Amino acid sequence: MLNADQIVYLNGEFVALEDARVSVLDRGFIYGDGVYEVVPVYGRQPFRMPHHLRRLQYSLDGVRMANPHSDVQWDTLVRELCAKQPFVDQAVYLQITRGVAKRDHAFPPGAPATVFMMSNPLPLPSREQVEHGVAVVTAEDNRWHRCDLKTTSLLGNVLMRQLAVDHNAVETVMFRDGFLTEASASNVLIVRNGTVIAPPKDHLILPGITYDATLEVARAAGVTLDVRKVTRAEALAADEMWLSSSTKEVLSITKVDGAAFGEGVPGPVFRKVWHAFQAMKPHAAEAALAR
Ligand code: PDD
Repeated sequence: MLNADQIVYLNGEFVALEDARVSVLDRGFIYGDGVYEVVPVYGRQPFRMPHHLRRLQYSLDGVRMANPHSDVQWDTLVRELCAKQPFVDQAVYLQITRGVAKRDHAFPPGAPATVFMMSNPLPLPSREQVEHGVAVVTAEDNRWHRCDLKTTSLLGNVLMRQLAVDHNAVETVMFRDGFLTEASASNVLIVRNGTVIAPPKDHLILPGITYDATLEVARAAGVTLDVRKVTRAEALAADEMWLSSSTKEVLSITKVDGAAFGEGVPGPVFRKVWHAFQAMKPHAAEAALAR
């Protein structure tokens, strides 16, 4: 259900969702010509904001768009938006498109960017999902070769996510040319013999902020890490497989393509890292408060 009164941000103004309007000629609508970020917010404090802003700049550079705001301006806007919501744990969505122009594939000279932000309640996994793990399906990764850019052109990801929904699963884990890439809206990590193995952050996966946070807390908890390419066979024979994202945090996969995966329950390394992740969250919020 849409909440028409929800306060969103559009091109310099905070307005009610029902009053936020963009032209049908916006290049985000016509071409998916834009980039975005999703920032998790705990207790109205954005989590790892500098990391998200760094990745936003990387995506903007990758699609040759100017950043409409400085990091300080973004930080202020995000905090203002969060303060206007009635809930404290939030998922801030921000997107920048290449503006409104007569339809032509080439960049429009001089069109101002369209900047949109909204914030919704943070849809964290249920206790059931954390304790019992989640189901995924697998598919060949058929997206373009710049999956490192967080662009709003998400049709490949949309179709992959729907494939999961069609099979009562939460995600589709993808493989490209025999190697694990990521899932439709999450990164994927595996565990073998106690070591967390993560696919490298190359142009075939999104450099997840939660992927980094997960590896950091795992390392701090004494877990060995290995960042390298993972074959399909190795992934499917792993002891554990995890999803990571801003809205899922870290989640254990216990069913793959309809069959129990690993022991069929979240494994010991997951449990250790999940607890370490939870323990790290409030510290991050305090650090943000102290700035
Ligand atoms: N999705 N890979 C893909 C394709 C993603 O869309 C996402 C995030 C991730 C994880 O990135 P992070 O840890 O920074 O959230 C990996 C967001 C949440 C979304 O589109 O809603």
